[in-house]
Amino acid sequence: MDFLRDVRPILAQHCFQCHGPDDNARKAKLRLDQKEAAFAERKGKFVVAPNAPENSLPVRADHLRQRKAPDAPAGKSEALTEKKIETLRLWIEQGAAWPEHWAFVAPKRPALPEVRKSEWVRDPIDRFVLTKLETENLNPNPEATREAWLRRASFDLTGLPPTPQELDEFLKDTSPKAYENQADRLLASTRYGERQTQEWLDLARYADTGGYQNDSPRQMWKWREWVINAYNANMPFDQFTIEQLAGDLLPNATLSQRWRPGSTATIPPIARRARRKTSTAPRTSSTA
Ligand code: HEC
Repeated sequence: MDFLRDVRPILAQHCFQCHGPDDNARKAKLRLDQKEAAFAERKGKFVVAPNAPENSLPVRADHLRQRKAPDAPAGKSEALTEKKIETLRLWIEQGAAWPEHWAFVAPKRPALPEVRKSEWVRDPIDRFVLTKLETENLNPNPEATREAWLRRASFDLTGLPPTPQELDEFLKDTSPKAYENQADRLLASTRYGERQTQEWLDLARYADTGGYQNDSPRQMWKWREWVINAYNANMPFDQFTIEQLAGDLLPNATLSQRWRPGSTATIPPIARRARRKTSTAPRTSSTA
């Protein structure tokens, strides 16, 4: 049973609406989004009593069986199923581990695993790949040809196949750093930012047009260019987030920080929503 994978999603879907971070919506003064609150004693009882589901309130409480997922589409709300109740029960029975989200845990360098076929290993990472293969009784594939490798690396990093000249240069490069040189070349290419930006823009629902009915001119591409440049300049993620949400509110904001979030034509939907809720600063007019 894994708290973050199996349990927290159930609590988030079925409980946070009334026992979550929102002070105004909270019922029974109970929070289930924080470990201390969920484990605290409540008038001699426990909501979560590790190892003792019979003493834990959520599993006994009848009200659980009526809890519908608040985000379910109207008419289709799914009550907390017996299976999910059983998951909560099992999790408590197994000790109710509540680890910190991995994003807040500093990564530690793991010890290198022992492998049988150690002559195959060229790089420490190979040991991790090989351990998994060996536990599955699989053999590594033969090494890819240089042609195949460059094609894969190029598609991965830039979204484009290598040109014949690029392939020729790679085939001619007999130095031990031949592969590294190609990886560096691809990472330094402006196509790298274009390819990686695709994923981000898809998630943020970027579109060049407003759809069939509303195909008037749009300047959304300015934001696309801004994201591409951010990737190519290796902008740290915190800065990337800050500038997209409130670049124009930064002290001594540069033109690139100001124009993008300042313009409603180019502001991405998530940022627009966040700013509507929080920003009390006067609207800057678009300089785009
Ligand atoms: C729609 C609002 C709502 C949702 C969703 C909700 N609850 Fe509750 N909960 C309440 C209210 C109201 C009370 C107080 C009255 C009662 O016990 O029914 C309460 C009380 C409780 C109590 C008793 C606290 C005590 O000290 O007696 C527990 C335990 C609890 N909820 C757990 C849960 C769990 C676990 C979930 C999710 C599976 C959940 N609740 C979802 C509204 C909600």
